Amino acid sequence: MAAQEDRRKLVGRLFNYANNPITIAGVVLTTLSALLIITFMVVELFGELENPYFGLFAYVFLPAVFVLGLIEIPIGMLRRRRKLIRGGTTEAEKSEYPTFNFNDPKVRRVAMIIIGLTAVNAVILGSSSFIAVEKMESVEFCGETCHTVMQPEFAAYQQSPHSRVACVECHIGPGASWFVKSKLDGLRQVWHTAVDSYPRPVETPLRTLRPARETCEQCHWPGKHHGDKLRTFVRHATDEENTPAYTSMLLKTGGGSLDTGRHGGIHWWHIESDNVIRFVAGDDRRESVVWVELITPEGEVRTYTRDGEELPSEAELETRARIMDCIDCHNRPTHLFNTPAKSIDWVLETHPELRGLPYFKRQAKKAIEGEYDTHVEGVRSVRDAILTFYRDEYPDVAANDAELVESGADYASRVYARTSFPEMNTNWETHPNHIGHDDFPGCWRCHDDEMATPDGKHVIPMDCDNCHVYLVEDAPEVPDFAALINGS
Ligand code: HEC
Ligand code: HEC
Ligand code: HEC
Ligand code: HEC
Ligand code: HEC
Repeated sequence: MAAQEDRRKLVGRLFNYANNPITIAGVVLTTLSALLIITFMVVELFGELENPYFGLFAYVFLPAVFVLGLIEIPIGMLRRRRKLIRGGTTEAEKSEYPTFNFNDPKVRRVAMIIIGLTAVNAVILGSSSFIAVEKMESVEFCGETCHTVMQPEFAAYQQSPHSRVACVECHIGPGASWFVKSKLDGLRQVWHTAVDSYPRPVETPLRTLRPARETCEQCHWPGKHHGDKLRTFVRHATDEENTPAYTSMLLKTGGGSLDTGRHGGIHWWHIESDNVIRFVAGDDRRESVVWVELITPEGEVRTYTRDGEELPSEAELETRARIMDCIDCHNRPTHLFNTPAKSIDWVLETHPELRGLPYFKRQAKKAIEGEYDTHVEGVRSVRDAILTFYRDEYPDVAANDAELVESGADYASRVYARTSFPEMNTNWETHPNHIGHDDFPGCWRCHDDEMATPDGKHVIPMDCDNCHVYLVEDAPEVPDFAALINGS
């Protein structure tokens, strides 16, 4: 009977220890958060919850509360035990730590319950942190959680060829070390967002972006020879008729490698390991280049500079020279804020009926380039500006073609909506595109016929034909290449 008495005492003592506000709060927190997490998981099984904040709450905040509760339970008990002993309450409490007799079925039962609960806890914690990681990798989380901050990049992304590629595929890529780096960096960003100290616009280029070859090349293979790529550019004049002009050229994308036997063109020259190009930018945004080095397949090292330009010292080369990779040309593969003029060219090309609106390009461009205080106000004002223009200047058109005018106004405001973000000081001017040379220096940062080796033997060439061959220039109609081939 003495054993039974001991047992009663032991259980009683544990309850006695647990009887304190800290432990009780811990039990309540743990139980509540566990129940909530389980409920959310079940609800999510039915696909009801899409909101990105929900993920943060259910799988980051709640598990944190859960763990906090778990930690509180023993802390409270230990404190209370010490207090009881100090107060000299009873002999029993002064005794050593409780000894457990596992021959006793009741102790065994309590132990089984504790082990069982711990297992359940482990499952809850494990699966919720798994879901937390999944959530944080989702496009919704990256693009929408900090809505204002990411709005420009997210809006542009949704319209891009990569809108089905998750943000993390380019921004983190495979492997654990970049995952951890990105999460640490993420903590810093959450802090800046919370205290509202983030830069506007978000800085570009991204200094911490993973080398593009480790991300882009998960899907694209530069060793693959693309050959020439046929591109037709359409540009509309700002005259009353919005007159189009079509230019078609073969872009010498190329690729390949010496091994494969077929090589050459733009990709082979800059990114295939046969040639390695390093450069030093003259400014933080890499919009100018002051020093270039090429190591040829034969191992010859050529350095190109411009006459009279200040050059980086040896020490600076160590820190500032950058090995050229995909994003030194494709820096806007997905976050492209196209210029108003080009965006409208595209609208006119895809909705040719809008060419019937006199001066549409001129007016839409002017409205989109206007300054507005907020994104929402801009979207509305651009629309209003188009409607007002036709009402005041072309009342006939406004009256007879009301639907067309409305549709023109809508398209113009949509262009504004995806290219201008006053809250983030972001638009087509703040985020230049390095492909080509039309709106920004792009290829001509190096290919300006002035960057040369000291002996003047090699110049980074500006000849148009090196990069593309014109097939048709400023034609009034879309060139019909099929007809050409058929000889008609
Ligand atoms: C196809 C690859 C790709 C995908 C997908 C992608 N990004 Fe980017 N992102 C880039 C590149 C490349 C840059 C520009 C890097 C540079 O110039 O340094 C960039 C830059 C950014 C910047 C810095 C500002 C800027 O515009 O240069 C932010 C912010 C950003 N991305 C957020 C996102 C978010 C959010 C998503 C998902 C909704 C996303 N990205 C998806 C490739 C990608
Ligand atoms: C997860 C796979 C994936 C990754 C990573 C990826 N891309 Fe792509 N990319 C695609 C797919 C798929 C397409 C074709 C989209 C289409 O035609 O609808 C594409 C298209 C492109 C195009 C052609 C766009 C056009 O207008 O036709 C370029 C250029 C490009 N990617 C560059 C990049 C660069 C640069 C990176 C790295 C910053 C990158 N991609 C990362 C999957 C990927
Ligand atoms: C020197 C500049 C430059 C570099 C570096 C570069 N590209 Fe390109 N890339 C181009 C140009 C120019 C085009 C043709 C663009 C066009 O369609 O107007 C192109 C086209 C592409 C296309 C579309 C091909 C097609 O035929 O549709 C893909 C995909 C692509 N690049 C991926 C990459 C990847 C991945 C890297 C890095 C490994 C890379 N590029 C590096 C300049 C570059
Ligand atoms: C950072 C400097 C740099 C930038 C930016 C750059 N290139 Fe180059 N490119 C070079 C160098 C260096 C060579 C080798 C020049 C030589 O032949 O001595 C080269 C060679 C070439 C060649 C081969 C020329 C030949 O002799 O046949 C082509 C084509 C080319 N580049 C296209 C482009 C295009 C298109 C872009 C923009 C999308 C671009 N490059 C951007 C540095 C650059
Ligand atoms: C170093 C390579 C390079 C050189 C040199 C070069 N271009 Fe280009 N050019 C490009 C690329 C790349 C594009 C495609 C840009 C894009 O994809 O939007 C382009 C596009 C163009 C376009 C269409 C622009 C538009 O968006 O409407 C014109 C016009 C053009 N080039 C004219 C010229 C002329 C004229 C020369 C000679 C003085 C020249 N280029 C020299 C690389 C080059």
